[in-house]
Amino acid sequence: SATASRSTPLGLKMEDPLLLRAARGEKVEMTPVWMMRQAGRHMQEYRELVKKYPTFRERSEIPEVATEISLQPWEAYGVDGCILFSDILTPLPGMGVEFDIKETSGPKLKPLRTKEQIDTMKICSDWSTSMPFVKQTLGELRKRVGNSATVLGFVGLPFTLATYLVEGGTSSEYLEIKKMMYYNPSLLTAMLENLAENIGNYANFQIEAGAQVIQIFDSWAGSLSPEDYDLFAFPYQKMVVNAIKKKHPDVPIIIYIAKSGAHVERMADTGVDIVSLDWTVTIDEARRRIGRDIGLQGNLDPAILYGPEHIIKERTESILKMAKGRHHIMNLGHGIEATTPQPNVKFFVDTVHAFKH
Ligand code: CP3
Repeated sequence: SATASRSTPLGLKMEDPLLLRAARGEKVEMTPVWMMRQAGRHMQEYRELVKKYPTFRERSEIPEVATEISLQPWEAYGVDGCILFSDILTPLPGMGVEFDIKETSGPKLKPLRTKEQIDTMKICSDWSTSMPFVKQTLGELRKRVGNSATVLGFVGLPFTLATYLVEGGTSSEYLEIKKMMYYNPSLLTAMLENLAENIGNYANFQIEAGAQVIQIFDSWAGSLSPEDYDLFAFPYQKMVVNAIKKKHPDVPIIIYIAKSGAHVERMADTGVDIVSLDWTVTIDEARRRIGRDIGLQGNLDPAILYGPEHIIKERTESILKMAKGRHHIMNLGHGIEATTPQPNVKFFVDTVHAFKH
């Protein structure tokens, strides 16, 4: 198990970690599992640290604290992936945009809507000077987990980041950015291009700092019509994928979008290695639509983790059976909910590891 191999002395030449091998599409001994948003609010251990470090910015920007939080789900459940504790908005100050995260209402920014406001964005010339803590945290995580877990980096994709920049925070209908699409598309595409260039470089910086797999989140692109998706999301997703593949062709890339059942083919067309599904499609349906040459991640409804054990087992195994252990990483269909009972999370992870294909 992950826990047993953790004590293996460093320096011994070991096989690459399970999740990384599965992400490359290699045949593996069992299906790896991790959970989106696993580091954070659903864990008692995390809520203890919140008392000591009350703001998200300090928890994610002090390397020792961010490292500790990133390791908590690995220590508690033996998950196969350890994701950097950070946020999709973390790189914004490197681009000249300030942000704040309120504990109750989430991200807060001064909206960028006019040409003058958008022109204040810059291309970051050196991520290791503007985000030194990201480099330190990723490097420390690699040392701490050795080959018993895979270290994942992540970035937000241009459209989803732009929703925060234009709306000024969380939104439910995205009306400000949609108005910009219809009234001033060239202003919006200028912003999206800037974001794509910055985010491609930032993802490469994370890889060079130690991230072994990169997950790219366009969480809110599922709110777009197919026409708008093709104009305002897809080209910039592809720019980020191309920038990573050009510098680091061997690093697996996972794309995630919420409410993406309608967009599964478009996600595969970006050139990523793995499509992370939400729970609106089955693994079988996704295979029929995008074929066998691409990896799949997911896709348990996070609400199932509130169910009784027999339901968690039945639904988890149903996904594992459909995936047949072929190029599959088990995960939820979106982030774990804040009030999820921790024993159920442990039961879910154990169920995946115990399953025999
Ligand atoms: O959920 C997703 O769709 C993933 C993509 C995403 C992240 N942040 C990644 C993340 C999105 C859309 C965000 C924006 C954001 N930032 C939100 C969402 C709220 C909204 O509706 O707009 C929030 C609450 C934040 C601020 C934030 N990010 C907090 C307070 C925390 C830590 C506590 C917690 O568990 O919520 C985060 C952590 C975070 N955001 C991680 C990731 C990948 C941490 C790593 C992990 O465990 O996955």
